Amino acid sequence: MRILTGLQPSGRLHVGNFFGAMEPAVKLQEEGEAFYFIADYHAMTSTHDPKILKNNVLDLSIDFLACGLDPKKAFFYRQSAVPEVNELAWILSTVCPMGLLERCHSYKDKVANGLAANHALFAYPALMAADILLYDANVVPVGEDQKQHLEVTRDLAGKINDRYGENTLILPEVRIREKSAKVPGLDGQKMSKSYDNTIPIFGDEKGTRKLIMKKIATDSTPMEDPKPIENSVLLDLFHLFASEERYQEMISDHQKGGKGYGHFKQELFDAYWSYFEPLRAKRLEIENHLDYVQQVLDEGAQKAREEASLVLTRVRAAVGLS
Ligand code: ADP
Ligand code: TRP
Repeated sequence: MRILTGLQPSGRLHVGNFFGAMEPAVKLQEEGEAFYFIADYHAMTSTHDPKILKNNVLDLSIDFLACGLDPKKAFFYRQSAVPEVNELAWILSTVCPMGLLERCHSYKDKVANGLAANHALFAYPALMAADILLYDANVVPVGEDQKQHLEVTRDLAGKINDRYGENTLILPEVRIREKSAKVPGLDGQKMSKSYDNTIPIFGDEKGTRKLIMKKIATDSTPMEDPKPIENSVLLDLFHLFASEERYQEMISDHQKGGKGYGHFKQELFDAYWSYFEPLRAKRLEIENHLDYVQQVLDEGAQKAREEASLVLTRVRAAVGLS
């Protein structure tokens, strides 16, 4: 089984990215041949400062390794280190109806949020499909918001196969984890950089404590009264960091009354802080070995490129380019 996923280097990794994409990917590297990459071409649709882009790529590379990506088990590379992906994206574009891209929520949301509606943003899903199909990936772990892009990917692969032969491309399966498909942000909407409601996974202690204590949305139930457990951002986040037993305890503490939200937020912060403790330590260590990070990316790119060229040779032959 081939597992593949990519993350955009577009700022600090948050709790939603971690549980929706990063952690499932790291776990899956045990179950097959993994291809994990940094989607720097995609990030150019929103990051226009070259220094910031470069820095974000470095940061995300360190994050991946700190979160447990094992370069012995996974090919780890920058998307732009395998520029052949653009050729496959072009080939896919030739079977891609405009309407398919026009229906993409992610495109519509980004434009509604003020990003320029340029060709790259519009064609984003075709490049993403190429990222996946270029490596014959079978399984793609992502958060719920990427589901539609995976449908586009399957659709385009199917169209290529219809036109050029059944075995030209392999149709991948999306893998979305139920528990963390849509991690809520501080305000209760989906946690996302675009909504400015994120909790970073490698935030500093004081700043993150303040975020959790001051910004998590709660209602005005008095301390002594029982508190609602439905649609509680606080409980949903706690569930991600704490054991099932501790989570059930917090539920019954809500139902009993007598404890205020301040108390629960403190518990949430403690659970968050200790959950990421080992990863923080690892990150510090990696930060001091940037040459190691570069080496991992170089080796990953070389291997990824070899794999990509096998698929591209097959596709070029099928479509009549060679
Ligand atoms: P953002 O919405 O903050 O810009 P990205 O779109 O860069 O995040 O998402 C990177 C990965 O993290 C994707 O696989 C996405 O599905 C996942 N992800 C992002 N936010 C969440 C969330 N709130 N819950 C679950 N997964 C998420
Ligand atoms: N679009 C994804 C995101 O915003 C990133 C991405 C690019 C990706 N190419 C991919 C994810 C291929 C999975 C597979 O998070």
